[in-house]
Formats: sequence, C-alpha cells, structure tokens
Amino acid sequence: MTPEIKYELSGCGVLAVTIARPDKKNALTNEMYGALADAIARANDDDEIRVLLIQADGDTFSAGNDVSEFAAQSTGDGPKEPNVVRFLQGLANARKPLVAAVQGKAVGVGTTMLLHCDYVLLSEEAQLITPFVNLALVPEAASSYLLPLRIGHARAFEMFALGEAVPASAAVAWGIANKVVPNAELRAEAHLVAEKIAAKPIGSLTAMKRLMRDAEKLIAQMDCERSIFVERLASAEAKEAFAAFAQKRQADFTRIVRQKM
Ligand code: COA
Repeated sequence: MTPEIKYELSGCGVLAVTIARPDKKNALTNEMYGALADAIARANDDDEIRVLLIQADGDTFSAGNDVSEFAAQSTGDGPKEPNVVRFLQGLANARKPLVAAVQGKAVGVGTTMLLHCDYVLLSEEAQLITPFVNLALVPEAASSYLLPLRIGHARAFEMFALGEAVPASAAVAWGIANKVVPNAELRAEAHLVAEKIAAKPIGSLTAMKRLMRDAEKLIAQMDCERSIFVERLASAEAKEAFAAFAQKRQADFTRIVRQKM
C-alpha cells in the first residue's frame, strides 16, 4: 500500500485509481507500479468493478518512470523483480475497460500506458511526450509496436526520436485519444464516460475487448523491449542522461564512444 496511489470504487462499478505524487509530477516508483498492478488485478477478478479509470492529481498526469530509480537500476541497485513488469503485463491482460483522464504532461510510460487504455480523455493543455531516446533508452509497454500501428511509422518515429511534445488536439487527430475537454471538466467528463461504459453489459464488453487486443503479442513485444531496455539502462549514454537530470543540466552525449548493442 502506498498513499501515492489512491482507489475509490463508485456505486456504478467504476474503480477510480488516482496517481497522487504531484510534488514529483507523478513520477512512478516501483511501489507505485506495484499498487497500479494490484488495482488492475483486482479489477480483473472483482465482479463489482466494471470499469477502471486512471486519473492523476496535480498539474501533470505523470512524468513517467522515476528517473532516480532508473539511475539505481543502471548500477544494478534496482529491485530484482521490478513491479513495472507486472504493471505492463497487467495492462496487456486487463479484462475490464480502461478509461484515462490526462491533464498536463504525460511523459514516457505516462503516454505509453494510454496505448492500452480503451477511452482516453485529454485536457486542452495535455501533452504527450515519449523521450526514451533522449534518455538513451528504448520505448517500452509494447509502444514500439502499438504506436506505429496507431499513428503510422513517420509520426511514431518522430515522437520517439525527437521526444517532442504532441499537443492534445494532434493526439486526438492521430487516434491516440478520444476527446479533448477543458481542464476544469476533465475529471467529471471522465467519470461520466466511465459510468456510461459501466452501464453496458459487462460480458459483452469484456469479450469485445478481448477480441480487439492480442495480449500474447503485446507481452511478447514487452519482453523483447525489456531485454534491450535493461541493456540500455546500463549504458554510459543512459548514465549520462540520468546524471544530467539529477544535476538539472543538458545531457552531453558527444564524448561517449558508440557502444555495441
Ligand atoms: N523522476 C523523478 N523525479 C521527477 C521526474 C521523474 N521522472 N520528473 C519530475 N521530477 C521531479 C523533479 O526532479 C522535481 O523535483 P525537486 O522539486 O525535488 O527538484 C519535481 O519533480 C518537479 O519537476 P520540475 O522538473 O521542476 O517540473 P517542471 O514543471 O519544470 O517539468 C517535467 C516537469 C515532467 C516536464 C520535467 O520534470 C521532466 O522532464 N521530467 C523528466 C521526465 C522523464 O524524462 N521521464 C522519464 C521518461 S522515460
């Protein structure tokens, strides 16, 4: 249990899961991944839960993985069985519909988790950012497969390689999200949509969702990404990126000799 992930089950069967670490822009720690994975597992098994709604406190949906935990993993100090694996596999295997309400920036896994959500609402100033290459890493959460599938290779390559922010309007136009709403209305709108979905026949919803997603393919892609991700974490390039973040400076990769993959 961590206070940085909150749960609330409504009478309509909507389990709202709130990422609540706003002072660190909702950067996700191993403990938080564990709590998110538990929520998805609970939703799978609990007949009272018909829809899972992911939302976040503060001005940022999520700054992605906690970079200090990446730094620890890069020197072999990370957890032996990181909860992120359970969380990502949980997203791929989620039985109940996932709705997301995204305000401000969604960085890294903050964006890639949305590719597993079934209905995504963005606030007007939401921005999707996938800076894996800037951190000398590779995409995860099966996003190396799902993002080009959703938006085409050209846009996906640009998002991954340049790591620049994609505004909410473009995210909807490209098919990453469903709808843009004013920030003040985001949470209420997301609850309305979640309640509307929760009122549908759950047997039909879960069967439809299963037909629409190839969980086996997604998990195979995640495994493939993970083996490269772990190698990249230990690279001199990634260590420079994490040090630069901690020291609040630009990373300088120019003096690092190219390493063999
Ligand atoms: N991991 C750990 N801490 C993070 C974090 C992350 N991913 N993102 C933000 N924080 C922390 C900052 O270190 C800062 O902590 P401090 O107040 O103790 O110094 C606090 O959250 C506020 O962040 P700050 O950078 O001052 O806010 P901002 O509004 O200027 O920028 C972001 C917000 C999200 C754009 C920026 O923090 C950022 O780029 N974070 C890193 C994102 C990232 O690379 N994630 C990994 C993706 S794979």
